[in-house]
Amino acid sequence: MDYSHVRQFITDNLPVLPVPGMPKIRLHKAGPHSGLRRLAERDPRFGSPYWAHYWGGGLVLARHLLDKPETVVGRHVVDLGAGSGIVGIAAAKAGAAKVDAADIDPYAIEAIGLNAELNNVTIQTVLADITIGQPPPTDVICVGDLFYDAAIAKGVTEFLDRCLASGITVLIGDPWRAHLPASRLRLLAEYIVPDFGVSTGKPTRSGVFAFESSEQS
Ligand SMILES: C[S@@+](CC[C@H](N)C(=O)[O-])C[C@H]1O[C@@H](n2cnc3c(N)ncnc32)[C@H](O)[C@@H]1O
Repeated sequence: MDYSHVRQFITDNLPVLPVPGMPKIRLHKAGPHSGLRRLAERDPRFGSPYWAHYWGGGLVLARHLLDKPETVVGRHVVDLGAGSGIVGIAAAKAGAAKVDAADIDPYAIEAIGLNAELNNVTIQTVLADITIGQPPPTDVICVGDLFYDAAIAKGVTEFLDRCLASGITVLIGDPWRAHLPASRLRLLAEYIVPDFGVSTGKPTRSGVFAFESSEQS
């Protein structure tokens, strides 16, 4: 499938808006007139357009990185399940030395490219399910809102365990979704943020967590 039309579609139909609580970051965001259905009609594999919305987990984790740049400054960061790229963009703005954004959705990859340019940051995109492999060579993995489905949560948690074992710092942002591995988390910060997953944008209490080994919890 050729995705070259996707960037033009996003540019033409998804307005650029400052992110709530983080005016330094602007993203292409779907609105009532974006007509995402027209993209879907061209491609039977078009999935849920997560990349076009604000998710509580990504918002809270991005906010935390901007508030506490020492978390990532000078470090190599992987944004796992990057969607719009919001977390990776915040990491780059906070001073990360290198940022990779991984997602399994090719539409997300196009959106991340556009959103990175819009925010004047450099992000390497990775179109792959990196959770099925070995830990990537990185210092920090940031996971914004990836525990919304039981099967995904299981695979991601196992992968994050392998990352911890290889010395990678794992940070999670999440609005306490059902499949969050809560017993493995240490709360670092909480914010009230809008979440598309709850009544399309209702303010929701969301946490930033350190993922810790089972011996520590
Ligand atoms: C709810 S969205 C969150 C997006 C972004 N992190 C945020 O918080 O705004 C979840 C994203 O994870 C991606 N995803 C799901 N399973 C994945 C996997 N195994 N590896 C990488 N990305 C995945 C989806 O395609 C989607 O873009």
